[in-house]
Amino acid sequence: MNMHSIEFKQRRDALMARMGEGIAIIPTAPEVTRNRDSHYPYRFDSYFYYLTGFTEPESVLVLIAGEENKSILFCRDKDVEREIWDGFRFGPDAAKTEFSFDAAYTMRELDKMVPQWMGNQSTLFYSLGADTMWDTRVTHWLNTVKTQTRAGVSAPASIVDVRQHLDAMRLFKSPFEIDLMRQSANIAAQAHNRAMQKVAVGKLEYEIEAEFLHEFYRKGAQAPAYTSIVAGGANACTLHYNANNCELNDGDLLLIDAGCELHGYASDITRTFPVNGKFTGPQKTLYELVLSAQLAAIEAAKPGNHWNAPHEAALDILVQGFIDEKLCHGSKDEVIESASYRQFYMHRTGHWLGLDVHDVGDYKNKAGDWAILEAGNTLTVEPGCYVRPADNVPEHFWNIGIRIEDDVLITEGGHEVLTQAAIKTVSGIEAHMQRS
Ligand code: GLY
Ligand code: MN
Ligand code: MN
Repeated sequence: MNMHSIEFKQRRDALMARMGEGIAIIPTAPEVTRNRDSHYPYRFDSYFYYLTGFTEPESVLVLIAGEENKSILFCRDKDVEREIWDGFRFGPDAAKTEFSFDAAYTMRELDKMVPQWMGNQSTLFYSLGADTMWDTRVTHWLNTVKTQTRAGVSAPASIVDVRQHLDAMRLFKSPFEIDLMRQSANIAAQAHNRAMQKVAVGKLEYEIEAEFLHEFYRKGAQAPAYTSIVAGGANACTLHYNANNCELNDGDLLLIDAGCELHGYASDITRTFPVNGKFTGPQKTLYELVLSAQLAAIEAAKPGNHWNAPHEAALDILVQGFIDEKLCHGSKDEVIESASYRQFYMHRTGHWLGLDVHDVGDYKNKAGDWAILEAGNTLTVEPGCYVRPADNVPEHFWNIGIRIEDDVLITEGGHEVLTQAAIKTVSGIEAHMQRS
């Protein structure tokens, strides 16, 4: 048995406890064709993986909750011939044992078995609308059950989106998940530190992107968690810049937003530093401002505070700085009220982080109040400042784009910065980039 299978079984049991009674159908993600017969690198569905740890495509989890709970996997056949071409696959028998399922069948049995189990279940737990192919298939199963009404078989009276339970569960990371997130964060942090030393005037942004891929794969990460942003100079003012094809110029800053995925878990780090290793005066002024805002936001990331507390803490400092540097005008309250600061800070200060880089989980409760931070939550803290040339902007700040992003775990006593190994003070960066 896979040594971690008990953790995944416990998650399935927890979901079935929430379901009470009913049947859940949770397919994994399809393989996606890139061109002709080549595929994009396969990535499983996060919900399916959260409940199974099973990474093969063409798999479906079925949970039957009631007096007796049952978790059943459907997966590809064991097929020695196909394995010569595509590599190892578990097949139902080994998957059942290795991953602690109550039963496992081949995918060929899915259309026969599931309608049988759906009969007389009160509720179907399924993510309607997530995938039209699966919607069609599930609808067909429901219709199959409905044809049996005269035989005394009833179809589920209600369909509940299973994600509402899973999102709430995934918001709280277990020690096993936290350990993986620490490792993912550490790989990305080391990659950022290494990149700082590889950067030089005249190199191309994609050369630095390649350094990240090198480091991610070399350290055992399966993929980047998202397309890396490697943005020199003015490119940093484009929030989702990822062309990554420009030359790095003397006197410019370089903003890099890059993180990896380790056994499903994302890290998400941004660092900004001078291409030539030394901040100019205006760059340092705005960098120190964003760093103070980030440190204040991290300080506000603690249990009992609401979700927006880190954003408010960052904004408070950024807005005062924008006024002091003549980027914004008026009192702090006026600038916040009018939102004129958005010319320079137009995004929010973070998001939940986990199996998805923008992880699932509500930010507000049903009454419309901000979620309260609790131990086990993981989030990013990522204030920034982006100054595009404009008549109302002091010229010495033009084309400076800065973001500083760390990954934070809320703990009982406050927080742990998972990405703390990534250098971010001005003196730390300048010392680290100095080459003999
Ligand atoms: N890298 C995506 C983000 O920072 O949200
Ligand atoms: Mn982020
Ligand atoms: Mn990021």
